Amino acid sequence: MKFFVDTANVSEIQELSDYGLVDGVTTNPSLIAKSGRNFKEVVAEICKIVSGPVSAEVAALDYDGMIAEGTVLSKIAPNIVVKLPLTLIGLKACRAFVSQGVKTNVTLCFSPNQALLAAKAGATYISPFLGRLDDIHLDGVQLIRDIRKIYDNYQFKTQILSASVRTANHVKEVALAGSDVATVPAAVIKGLANHVLTDRGLEQFVKDWKSTGQSIL
Ligand code: G3P
Repeated sequence: MKFFVDTANVSEIQELSDYGLVDGVTTNPSLIAKSGRNFKEVVAEICKIVSGPVSAEVAALDYDGMIAEGTVLSKIAPNIVVKLPLTLIGLKACRAFVSQGVKTNVTLCFSPNQALLAAKAGATYISPFLGRLDDIHLDGVQLIRDIRKIYDNYQFKTQILSASVRTANHVKEVALAGSDVATVPAAVIKGLANHVLTDRGLEQFVKDWKSTGQSIL
């Protein structure tokens, strides 16, 4: 499963990239607002750090606006993926970008049928938001399982990009469900390396090594 980092914070992306933990990046209007940066500038900077796919979302809700904005975004760098909302108009825009060879990420997906429509529109990625389903007491991970089954039934090539992933458990569950990608906040990705028994074991090894009085170098 690929890891995309869900942030527009360049220093977070750089740090995770140095650890080799970034296969791509996703941004959205809320993350851009949080960064306090100019959208096109920050996305261009991210594309210089990360060679994998970088999703940049249109703001327009109308077809012509989506096409105009998505065209501008797609020209920022070759690894840009145009992110479009899962509306009928967003799906129509998705088809248009697909026909031009522009990669697309259809976002704000909350149901298997929405994911089916995105695959039929030829989307490169579908972004089901599992954390937000959990927030309203629905089963976010089950949505990923359902989409996996449907896509496999019909050999759709659209990649499942699990989004609104908030916890280490979410990461494990979507990996078990066969998600192609998970987009995850930087702190959650780093936290995946943590285990209390690793810390405890290491502490003991350090202590015992010191007691030997030896040096490897
Ligand atoms: O990729 C979408 C993601 O940013 C949404 O996450 O935590 O705001 O539901 P969240």
